[in-house]
Amino acid sequence: MTQDRETSETWPLEPGSEADTRRIFLKRAGGLVLLAAGGLAWRAYDTGVFSVGRGPAYEPWKTWQGQGPSEGPLALVRAGVLAASVHNTQPWLFRVGAESLELLADPGRHLGPMDPYRREQHISLGCALENMVLAAGAQGLKPEVEFLPGKLAEPQAEVPIAPAPEVVARLRFTPSRRDISGLYAAISQRHTNRGPYLADRGVPRETLWAFNDLAREDDSLRLVLLEDGGRRAVFDRLMVDATEAIVADREMIEASNSWFRLTPREIEQHRDGPTIDSFGLPPLSLAAVKMLPKPEPEKTHRQWVAATRDVQLATAPLVGIIAVRDPYERATALRAGLFWQRLQLWATAQGLAMQPMNQIVQMIDRDRQQARTSAFAADLAEILGDGRWQATLAFRAGYPAVAAVPSPRRGIDGLVLEEAPASSLREADLIAEQSGFSVRPTTDPSVARDPTRSQ
Ligand SMILES: Cc1cc2nc3c(=O)[nH]c(=O)nc-3n(C[C@H](O)[C@H](O)[C@H](O)COP(=O)(O)O)c2cc1C
Repeated sequence: MTQDRETSETWPLEPGSEADTRRIFLKRAGGLVLLAAGGLAWRAYDTGVFSVGRGPAYEPWKTWQGQGPSEGPLALVRAGVLAASVHNTQPWLFRVGAESLELLADPGRHLGPMDPYRREQHISLGCALENMVLAAGAQGLKPEVEFLPGKLAEPQAEVPIAPAPEVVARLRFTPSRRDISGLYAAISQRHTNRGPYLADRGVPRETLWAFNDLAREDDSLRLVLLEDGGRRAVFDRLMVDATEAIVADREMIEASNSWFRLTPREIEQHRDGPTIDSFGLPPLSLAAVKMLPKPEPEKTHRQWVAATRDVQLATAPLVGIIAVRDPYERATALRAGLFWQRLQLWATAQGLAMQPMNQIVQMIDRDRQQARTSAFAADLAEILGDGRWQATLAFRAGYPAVAAVPSPRRGIDGLVLEEAPASSLREADLIAEQSGFSVRPTTDPSVARDPTRSQ
């Protein structure tokens, strides 16, 4: 009987007893709730709410130690691809030999008008170098780093259709004692954190001293740290202004947006770019943002400006600027990358969060490319206070309020070139770095040194 009644029910409700009507109504309402819940669950599944940090695009974070200490130079590549890179562009290719490894710039992977001189592309390549230097130590290989000298290329009006990969640095190895440093162990723990930091938990003095110690290992760069006060206020204002300027520059913002991967499908297809998971949102907001329809670009641009001002700067107890003599010199950009990666690994081992915030320097490049007088350059120079140094990377640091998650990575397949590329450098084209820099893994991150006491 019940069966008959159930199958004969139609919508809208047919007249019957009040109890019948209520029962039928409740059953249908329940069905609708279940349907809605099922739909929501499907939407949550489809938009990757349950798959944060999961899937093939995240495997390189788990398998990076490969076949262990005897694997040799290929192990360096696995570590290299986990490095930071601007917009997660992963602009690297590798050529592996028994006693050396070449790092090449992948000419198609850059931010175009947002990085017109490929300065940030080269910093990213330097980040990969740092991971590889540390991994070499763990393999029992002592690396010597050689850089491609010269200036970064001027922006080209017309990009060649198929530009060749270009060797930018080479590691040469000699066998040595295995050196598994704390920095090496932090390679797979390091993730850019764009969420709120604990505003009232400052970075300890001894950590700031240790940051400065790390910077002093390379005299081609200078580190400026700002907690509060007038210069910090100017820095924050410039950062918000630069973010607004990027949003207002159609070419820049379109180049930036083209790297964002918003759905699980896009992530698995490209295995690069920033993702919604990497925005640093608390779990409930993250789920909501993923499940809601894609907002208009103008809205996301406003949200970026607001997050920069009200979350990232407002909660950061510390900001910093890496300054160099000439940001448009190749080896300098690579060395800034080595340092930035090293600093992040060190900070990671201390439980600190970090995020590059490079909008100001990106605007300085854009002004230069467009031959405009740059108010950003002038104001940032005042913060640095010494005309011989120019900013190449700015960042914030603090203790995280929300844990950062991994970003996708391409595996090493397809990134290791078999043949010598057409533009491979002759010996004479590379400069060998002298002692003090070529053997890098020296600082143990577990020991925060106080330079005033060690002198
Ligand atoms: C040269 C350079 C510039 C960067 N600039 C920014 C930036 O302005 N804002 C930001 O949120 N992240 C920035 N990043 C961080 C990258 O987006 C991040 O490294 C990349 O998405 C990979 O994520 P991961 O660092 O968590 O592995 C920058 C990284 C590099 C190397």
